[in-house]
Amino acid sequence: MSEKLHIIPHNHQITADDRHRMKGHDSFVIWFIGLSGSGKSTLASALEKELYQKGIHTYILDGDNVRSGLNKDLDFSETSRKENIRRIGEVAKLMVDAGVLTITAFISPFEEERQLVKNMLGANRYVEVYVDCPLEECEKRDVKGLYQKARNGEISNFTGISSPFEIPKNPDVSVPTHQVSIEEGVAMIMKTIEQKLNSK
Ligand code: PPS
Repeated sequence: MSEKLHIIPHNHQITADDRHRMKGHDSFVIWFIGLSGSGKSTLASALEKELYQKGIHTYILDGDNVRSGLNKDLDFSETSRKENIRRIGEVAKLMVDAGVLTITAFISPFEEERQLVKNMLGANRYVEVYVDCPLEECEKRDVKGLYQKARNGEISNFTGISSPFEIPKNPDVSVPTHQVSIEEGVAMIMKTIEQKLNSK
């Protein structure tokens, strides 16, 4: 893009702090990371239920509502995955600004984009959850039959098989879904975010 864009942000009268006060809770992003089949969506959904019962306004961003809409032009190449995560980060930022505790459930395979999102949101608005399940276990589960297809060569660029997954370096919490129950996993995350939830 060569044309200079003249974008001057407007300062609105109601701020994110006003919205937080109105809702009675702070908002931030809980960013799940993990291989396909590791349990991201299951855990995100159970966590959302727990938060809902505490009266917290949440929303889950996941493949169903993002890759079939906003990001339906993106495939699973490295460039597209990076753009996928960047756009989700931008959407999450708007949702957090709107006062919603936002939960994202995407593979998010690259450390660079996770850092980009963290910087975009600010470290105090980003909680990283590594859904830590070994590839062998994910492949054994193969809930969607995709690993089989990837092994047969029917799907290319499949994470863990023919596309890289960088293990998170410093997550706020790791949930080993092959070792703990969903309830235990939710409790681990709740413990991590407890203080943030009570900060308003
Ligand atoms: S990424 O890497 O963060 O951009 O991926 P994401 O948007 O989370 O999409 C992952 C889901 O898409 C399905 N799928 C694939 N995953 C990995 N690699 C390839 N090539 C692929 N093709 C389709 C798969 O169902 C993933 O869903 P989950 O919930 O992770 O199992």
